[in-house]
Amino acid sequence: METTTAVNPFLEGNFAPVREEMTSDPLKVIGELPTDLSGMFVRNGPNPQWTPIGQYHWFDGDGMLHGVEIRHGKASYRNRYVRTRGFEIEQKAGKAVWSGILEPPQPDSDGYKNAANTALVWHAGQLLATWEGGAPHAIEVSQLETKGEYTYNGKLASAFTAHPKVDPVTGEMMFFGYSFAPPFVKYSIVSPQGELLRTIPIDLPMGVMMHDFAITANYTIFMDLPMTFNPARMQRGEPGLMFERDRPSRFGILPRHGDSDSIRWFESPSCYVFHTLNAYEEGDEVVLIACRMSSTNVFVTQPEQRDPDGDIPRLHSWRFNLSTGTVREEMLDDVPIEFPRVNENLLGRKTRYGYVGKMAPTPLPLFDGSIKYDLQAGYAQTYEYGKGRYGGEAVFVPRPDATVEDDGWLVTFVYDTDAGTSELLVLNAQDLSSDPVARVLIPQRVPYGFHGTWVSQQQLDASV
Ligand SMILES: [Fe+2]
Repeated sequence: METTTAVNPFLEGNFAPVREEMTSDPLKVIGELPTDLSGMFVRNGPNPQWTPIGQYHWFDGDGMLHGVEIRHGKASYRNRYVRTRGFEIEQKAGKAVWSGILEPPQPDSDGYKNAANTALVWHAGQLLATWEGGAPHAIEVSQLETKGEYTYNGKLASAFTAHPKVDPVTGEMMFFGYSFAPPFVKYSIVSPQGELLRTIPIDLPMGVMMHDFAITANYTIFMDLPMTFNPARMQRGEPGLMFERDRPSRFGILPRHGDSDSIRWFESPSCYVFHTLNAYEEGDEVVLIACRMSSTNVFVTQPEQRDPDGDIPRLHSWRFNLSTGTVREEMLDDVPIEFPRVNENLLGRKTRYGYVGKMAPTPLPLFDGSIKYDLQAGYAQTYEYGKGRYGGEAVFVPRPDATVEDDGWLVTFVYDTDAGTSELLVLNAQDLSSDPVARVLIPQRVPYGFHGTWVSQQQLDASV
């Protein structure tokens, strides 16, 4: 395969990796960090250790964690690679061994390297770095050292979505793993104490890329969307995954603890969804809110095959009526957005507010602001990062002992393209029109990445 890395935009600018793992304490703060904002923001993202072999996709790079720990109004920073088995093998080799998802799987290794580069979840006293093609990795906080693959004492029987869902009321964690062989999806429930309780198959007609899902208090919602896997495409030297816009979307609703045959499928027009904002129950309906694209070019490598209307995610709702079997889809706003988050103390319940990244009108996935949706009032408030400044996923951090849903902060890394510097931006989630609460200056560039999480002081103190 030809190496195309010299012109790959995901290896340039602030998509380019940083090489140094550093620790810095204390950091300069503009504004004031509230004393009740205490814990650690950790964000995952791709950061290739070596020059990639073959075509490089943004999803391929080795996971690197960037953490900002905040306590008593002071902040410190550290960044660490997730030291996966593949990372260690490539470090010893002094070069890349695996190519990425745009290339055929490697026959003499694990196929694709578990990059552990996508997201993080805190559950049962353990921080996990996630990647949807393999097992999660246990991460020690607050040092961000990798403890190793986490397999639930060998019970893990599937891959592990980057986006597990923790029920804030029961403490259970739901996850799934997909593969390209029947039954294509396996769904699991982990007890509040961290024991993997059960795994059941979710049978699909064919293999698809299933990046996210959703929960309500009683149901789990799967998205069987037409990003299909076809081995014949790989034999032709094309990516195995492709979006097929003539196929419909299917949404499966399963009682949380139900058996495989209790899932109910609802069909709606073709689309792709990377991320869900939330889901909840209302009367006879299950409501899903997510970032919907009419199509995606995410695995299209030939420019002439790109759909010019693809890759424009907008907030949509789907109302699945469990008594009539009908589905009603509605666009909630026409602004391109991604990286949706809610106050996760209310995950699976009806939330009034949603927080998303506002996509800049650029060919690359850049975010020029944060939007707070008031879904009850049908109102949006935007914080613009400023000229040449781009952020990432903004995570909602609830204020300890808060009594209203939006009492807390939004935190995200922002990169200033003119200055070449990064900062952690802390916004007042109750009023995005106000000046930032604080800007924490990071002593090195933080590349654009994927998902983050907030580990509270209470969780840090209780970590295993
Ligand atoms: Fe994701």
